[in-house]
Amino acid sequence: MNTARHIAIIMDGNGRWAKQRGMKRIKGHERGAEVVRNLTVFAADHPEIEVLTLYAFSTENWKRPGMEVDFLMRLLKNYLEKETETYLRNGVRFETIGDLSRFSPALQKQIEKTKEITKDFTRLTQVLALNYGSMDEIARSAARVCEQNLPITAETLGAELESARFGPVDILLRTGGEQRLSNFLLWQSAYAELFFSPTLWPDFTTEELEEIIAQFKTRHRRFGGI
Ligand code: FPP
Repeated sequence: MNTARHIAIIMDGNGRWAKQRGMKRIKGHERGAEVVRNLTVFAADHPEIEVLTLYAFSTENWKRPGMEVDFLMRLLKNYLEKETETYLRNGVRFETIGDLSRFSPALQKQIEKTKEITKDFTRLTQVLALNYGSMDEIARSAARVCEQNLPITAETLGAELESARFGPVDILLRTGGEQRLSNFLLWQSAYAELFFSPTLWPDFTTEELEEIIAQFKTRHRRFGGI
């Protein structure tokens, strides 16, 4: 039986959700943050899920209007401050992947603080992908392998990836109706089962995730074998 140990989600559809309601795009992100909290609590309580990786800000998201980028940065900082209690109460370790150096010192400090406070928790690891892109991650890994004068192989490259410590993805889900991977966890998803939901992220529920996990159980994973 398949085990849903690592679930990774491309949370898409916040802007459209808000637009459909005549609201500003940022309202969709605000509602999206609530869904992040609900799913995190659900995943912490789930007997199989050990890692939940969420694509919160990609290396390409800097191209968005300055106001939206600023809002997302504020939202993230407020979220980490406000939800520390949720991490503590549910035994969730907070982690990140991506290059944090481009974020403000205040946000970097908050990220480090939340990591430090939650570092010993083991019920769930919530990984936020922040200023993350797979191609960037792979290039940075290759540079580290070269620095060590090691041969470039799948083993050496794979071991130096920032996401290596969270292991392979079992379920890769994208909400919002598009069917693409958008530079997210390409290496770790080599054998992931893919799911695409038409639901816009602010409307996504724990019931739908349960349904996806049930479908995942029925899939026949061969990992290249027969
Ligand atoms: C994609 O929707 C969403 C993002 C680029 C940001 C994801 C952020 C959140 C879910 C909220 C904040 C998260 C945390 C952890 C506090 P989109 O804006 O591309 O939607 P669209 O395709 O409908 O325009």
